[in-house]
Amino acid sequence: MYTMPKFIYAMRGGPGATHMNSVHLASELKGYVPELKGFPTGVDGLDNLFFVAVFNKEGQPELQPLGGYPQGCVVHVTGIPDTGKSIMAEQFALKQASMGNTTCIVTVEQPAQFLLSSLKLRAAGMKLKFDELEDRIVLVDAAQNSVLRDDLSCLIDTLARVIKKYGVKVVVIDSVTGLYEAREMLARQTVRALYNFMKMWHQTAIFVSQKRSGHEELTAEAAGGYAISHIVDCSIVLSKKEILNRYDQSLYGLPPGEQVRLLRIDGCRMCGHDTRVHVMEIDEWGLVKVGSALQEFIQKRNGNV
Ligand SMILES: Nc1ncnc2c1ncn2[C@@H]1O[C@H](COP(=O)(O)OP(=O)(O)O)[C@@H](O)[C@H]1O
Ligand SMILES: [Mg+2]
Repeated sequence: MYTMPKFIYAMRGGPGATHMNSVHLASELKGYVPELKGFPTGVDGLDNLFFVAVFNKEGQPELQPLGGYPQGCVVHVTGIPDTGKSIMAEQFALKQASMGNTTCIVTVEQPAQFLLSSLKLRAAGMKLKFDELEDRIVLVDAAQNSVLRDDLSCLIDTLARVIKKYGVKVVVIDSVTGLYEAREMLARQTVRALYNFMKMWHQTAIFVSQKRSGHEELTAEAAGGYAISHIVDCSIVLSKKEILNRYDQSLYGLPPGEQVRLLRIDGCRMCGHDTRVHVMEIDEWGLVKVGSALQEFIQKRNGNV
């Protein structure tokens, strides 16, 4: 006879059980509400695009910069190829490691040794000594291990061991798309399981996902395309705009052939955030930097400011 696993039985309740232990007065949860704290992103210009509401000396509520991604947030970074997703994720990993938070990077596309060489370059660009961070960066190489890539329960089991063994606080997965390649109907299920896992282990995480170029730029649909953004706490969409015609040329004040990189925080349910499209650049060290809002950029290029 089939016996129900214990946890499912507990969830459904035994004979006469109710679900009243899942019902709480807000006041009873007071001591359990996590404090809203910023985890610096390692990306110039991004930390201050997240806000927190505080009461000032006069007792009035006001918004203040949070100083990073909200602690405990699962951030989804998405965009078409070559928009800077991996770079942003690496910058976060390096910054967090430099602040003493052990960081696990699950590399699904790039073998660990190649990732290591780009991490070293970016650390130098961020003026961080990579050898001082080496013991706080754990690489899980799912690019060269098809079991980790294809079997979600194996990956989750490995991650739990890694978090326990190394005291990991931050997880980067680059990319979740690589975990459901050619099985796109599994996208939501995969991301949901990983999201729940990060929450259970109190991790602050970045999930990178690939967007198909067919999806509309800078929209929620763009964010993974398979409603991943409904699962995660925060979505950031990256894109690039090629200046190819006279209209773009006069709008952006740039010659044909130039490129404008763009970033938008598409949504974040854990805190307030800037909702505008911002220009961003990737500098010669291969570091992402977020600049002014696109509107201000256009006004400046056209000499209106
Ligand atoms: N050292 C560098 N100097 C200038 N640009 C760089 C450097 N390293 C990477 N880039 C730019 O960043 C882009 C790749 O960013 P990446 O984060 O790997 O993209 P993806 O969104 O596909 O993950 C490259 O196409 C290149 O334009
Ligand atoms: Mg990438």
